[in-house]
Amino acid sequence: MEVKTSLLDNMIGVGDMVLLEPLNEDSFIVNLRNRFDHNEIYTYIGSVVISMNPYRSLPIYTPQKVEEYRNRNFYELSPHIYALADEAYRSLRDQDKDQCILITGESGAGKTEASKLVMSYVAAVCGKGQEVNKVKEQLLQSNPVLEAFGNAKTMRNDNSSRFGKYMDIEFDFKGDPLGGVISNYLLEKSRVCKQPRGERNFHIFYQLLSGASDDTLMKLKLDRDFSKYNYLSLDSANVNGLDDAASFRTVRNAMQIVGFMEAEVQSVLELVAAILKLGNIEFKPESRVNGFDESRVKDKNDLKEMCELLGIEQSVLERAFSYRTVEAKMEKMSTTLNVAQAYYARDALAKNLYSRLFSWLVTRINESIKAQAKTRHKVMGVLDIYGFEIFEDNSFEQFIINYCNEKLQQIFIELTLREEQEEYIREDIEWTNIEYFNNAVICDLIENNQNGILAMLDEECLRPGTVTDDTFLDKLNTICAEHQHFESRLNKNSKFLTDHSLPHSCFRIQHYAGKVLYRVEGFVDKNNDLLYRDLSQAMYKATHSLMRQLFPEGNPAKVNLKRPPTAGFQFKASVGVLMKNLQTKNPNYIRCIKPNDKKVAHIFTDSLVCHQVRYLGLVENVRVRRAGYAFRQPYESCLERYKMLCKKTWPQWRGPARDGVVVLLTDCSVPTEEFAYGRSKIFIRNPRTLFTLEERRRACLEDLATLIQKIYRGWKSRTHFLLLKKSQVVVAAWYRRYAQQNKYQKIKSATLVMQSFIRGWKARNILRQLKYEKRCKEAVTTIAAYWHGTQARMELRRLKTEARNKRAVSVIWAYWQGTKARRELRRLKEEARRKHAVAIIWAYWLGLQVRREYRKFFRANAGKKIYDFTIQRIMQKYFLGLKTTTMSPMDNTWPAKPYGFLEGAHTQLRRIFHLWRCKKYRGQFTEEKKAVYEEKLEASEIFKDKKALYPSSVSQPFKGDYLEIQKNPKYQKLNSAVEEVLLADLVNKINRANGKGSPRLFLLTKSNFVLADQKTGQVKASVPLPDLASVSVSTQSDGFFALKLKEGSASASKGDFLLSSEHLIEIITKLHHIGTTAADRDQINIDISDEFLVQFKQDKVCVKFIQGGPKNGNSAACKRKNNRLLEVSVPSP
Ligand SMILES: Nc1ncnc2c1ncn2[C@@H]1O[C@H](COP(=O)(O)OP(=O)(O)OP(=O)(O)O)[C@@H](O)[C@H]1O
Ligand SMILES: [Mg+2]
Repeated sequence: MEVKTSLLDNMIGVGDMVLLEPLNEDSFIVNLRNRFDHNEIYTYIGSVVISMNPYRSLPIYTPQKVEEYRNRNFYELSPHIYALADEAYRSLRDQDKDQCILITGESGAGKTEASKLVMSYVAAVCGKGQEVNKVKEQLLQSNPVLEAFGNAKTMRNDNSSRFGKYMDIEFDFKGDPLGGVISNYLLEKSRVCKQPRGERNFHIFYQLLSGASDDTLMKLKLDRDFSKYNYLSLDSANVNGLDDAASFRTVRNAMQIVGFMEAEVQSVLELVAAILKLGNIEFKPESRVNGFDESRVKDKNDLKEMCELLGIEQSVLERAFSYRTVEAKMEKMSTTLNVAQAYYARDALAKNLYSRLFSWLVTRINESIKAQAKTRHKVMGVLDIYGFEIFEDNSFEQFIINYCNEKLQQIFIELTLREEQEEYIREDIEWTNIEYFNNAVICDLIENNQNGILAMLDEECLRPGTVTDDTFLDKLNTICAEHQHFESRLNKNSKFLTDHSLPHSCFRIQHYAGKVLYRVEGFVDKNNDLLYRDLSQAMYKATHSLMRQLFPEGNPAKVNLKRPPTAGFQFKASVGVLMKNLQTKNPNYIRCIKPNDKKVAHIFTDSLVCHQVRYLGLVENVRVRRAGYAFRQPYESCLERYKMLCKKTWPQWRGPARDGVVVLLTDCSVPTEEFAYGRSKIFIRNPRTLFTLEERRRACLEDLATLIQKIYRGWKSRTHFLLLKKSQVVVAAWYRRYAQQNKYQKIKSATLVMQSFIRGWKARNILRQLKYEKRCKEAVTTIAAYWHGTQARMELRRLKTEARNKRAVSVIWAYWQGTKARRELRRLKEEARRKHAVAIIWAYWLGLQVRREYRKFFRANAGKKIYDFTIQRIMQKYFLGLKTTTMSPMDNTWPAKPYGFLEGAHTQLRRIFHLWRCKKYRGQFTEEKKAVYEEKLEASEIFKDKKALYPSSVSQPFKGDYLEIQKNPKYQKLNSAVEEVLLADLVNKINRANGKGSPRLFLLTKSNFVLADQKTGQVKASVPLPDLASVSVSTQSDGFFALKLKEGSASASKGDFLLSSEHLIEIITKLHHIGTTAADRDQINIDISDEFLVQFKQDKVCVKFIQGGPKNGNSAACKRKNNRLLEVSVPSP
């Protein structure tokens, strides 16, 4: 990397305007432009830095750059703001001189950015440590807070400072920052209520609405929509490249770092919100009896919310907008305010509230950042004040701002000259007087205590009687008429001349930076800066913590009838203090220039720059600087730079640097009038001399370079030759070694070949021998294996033969045993047969014996006895044979008759036995069972062979109560309504209309039958049994039955019942039984046929039963065929 040792190295144009040749306005601008086009935005005029606003970020503020400029002399490197900051910081630290950095330039020229760059540089190079870092951070973070509340977008600058700021940074003896003090100057508060077209209100309003959370906005009773607030200009509410929401977060963070408590931040935001609300309050006129209009608040909602935010009683504030109390000599008078006055009061309140809040913020920041230690401090002041402003319409604010710039210009002239003079004295060089424009006369026009414009404005404001802006202008016309820098349309009247270029109610001042036309409208009001006492008292009454501090004059206990000092007076006083302060410090200047009006990069508008160069007096500044001697340099650096121009000083000068420079300049034959020797510096009168020296230096450097090259080449060739020589020896040695190595390698490999052949031959011999031995071993093994095999097979054969023999023996043995057993069996059978034969023969023989013995008795009664015995035996056997029959009456089995003579007896016996066992069976019956069987019997008599349903009912017991009516609580009521129930069942009552059945409870008692609702148990019909004439059923297997009532009986009116039941047989049997047992009644007829008539009310309907197909399912289905026919299909059995 190229290392710079002087500002003069690789300069683009000239880095220091002092060296500009020829020096005139054009060359000055060309130089600035040339440097600007090459991104060189900084240029020096001696120790003054000119800064061009690049309107884009350049990579020249990196930490590397900080390191580069750290502890380097001013002229060592190319111009940079860091060089100025470093110089100021080092002379503060090392020479104990308080410094101030004065940054001037018009709006948008980059003053605020420059001040931040200086602060950040100082922060980067000064000491480190936890405490120091905290102080640094607090000082740096005060900027975003003040910018949010004090900056706004204007036509000239998107982040224009609308207040002046002077910040003293305090350092200890080591150069570590201890703290700081900020002073603020005249905030442009009129912006709170009204902004020129294309401009915005202060940033904080937009930041709050864009960046605050929904919750915060709700607490502040705000809406995110800018258009809802009268005080916010809408046409330029959003600025390109400005992220209000992000800035809000930065500001909140910065406030936290600076040390604001959360409650304080909240209070501040509440005031900001209250100002927005205040702007929305509107008034309407209300006529009064005396003919005057009085103002009234139009919509009280905003007023109410504002009062809630600040804790003010709504009625108090409302009254303050309608009345004004005037106090004079212990007398109080109340006058009404008209609508215009109410609006004026409202805006005055908003402006005062905001500017006081801003001043409070500065005080609060000062509290946080003030130095703790009470030791003596070194101070570096940084002044960033609003730039000179020339608008189309200039008012009181511009007048004040331009007055301030006028004062700064004056101090610049004074201090630059003084500095220059001091240096000459310090260096013991003769001082020549320099002509320049001194703007003291303009300052005097404005600030003179007797007839200065500010004094006259104050006088006018304090004068009793009618005071207007016009009376003020009249006054100016009379008093300043003769002043060469003051012009107005009328002031030439005395000379009978009128300046038509000047409008009425305006005056013009020829400032150092140009002529500015001021409109007097509002001067008196703004200077008075009046806030009606009623309003300040209303504010003082607020419960909001900050308000009392902001409006102390509202305290009724401290009513002060004296007028407060005017705005102009206050500003003049504070500027005076500032100037005094600056004069005690060593000044460092940064002159900011704006390259174009469009706020864009890369554009350099000559006319605009020229205007600024002119009014900033930069060319004059250069002239002053080089009036005596254009260039100066410490002896050491001068000797170091030019020592090659003289043999005596090259390469080293041993002796004082001053003597060296004298020798050098004498040797170079520089004319003696061209330079002067100071105490520590050489002063060169003309830049041309310097450039000649530079030229000679460059030429000399070339000669030196050739010499260095020559020596270097000689040295290089010789070194090369020596290297070659040395290399040759090494190469020869290496070659010989290589050849010997080759030879050795060949012998070695031949030996190896031979060795390997012999070893191969030996190995093959051994291998052969080993193979033979191996084969012998294998042969022995094979023979042994064969022999063992033979042995084994023989043994196997022997064992097999042995086993076969053993088996033959056991088979033979088994046969033999079998034969023996059979023989024995035959013998035993023979023996048994013989024993049987003996027994028979013995029996026959005994028989014969008996017959022989009893023959004599046999003739008389043997026949009868034998007969009786035989008969007896036969009967005995017959009866014993009957024992197999069972006692079941159902059992029809009976043994066949064994003998024909028993035929009659056999049949009789069977009948008697059956009767007997039936009697036995009946004998076991209880009374109930008997009744059941009687019923079954009765059923059989009624239905057997008459109805196909009957056989299936035989095995079903007659249960009677199928519904368990007594146990079921559901039928409790029903149960109690009827007497003893003989049968209870669920039946279907057939509907005549469609043949469909609906379920009914059917109860039968001794006297009647009842039909009841299945669900509720409610009785539907109760028919006394005497009214029942007959019952009709079909012959088939269905459960349908019709209960036909006697004609003329009480129940007959309802008609007959056609029902179906699963227990038809039982129901009919029971009905029949009741009929037969009751003495007072006729027996109930049971009609069994497949077609019968049923009387339904008036009509008789025929019910016909047919054998249905399988589609009817298993149960019978009834269907209405026509009015007179119901057809029941019964499934085939
Ligand atoms: N050194 C710089 N590098 C990059 N951009 C710059 C630099 N200086 C200024 N600017 C740009 O120019 C804009 C205006 O600069 P700045 O706010 O410092 O002007 P100012 O002189 O303080 O104006 P005012 O008097 O209105 O406050 C900045 O917002 C920034 O965008
Ligand atoms: Mg600024």
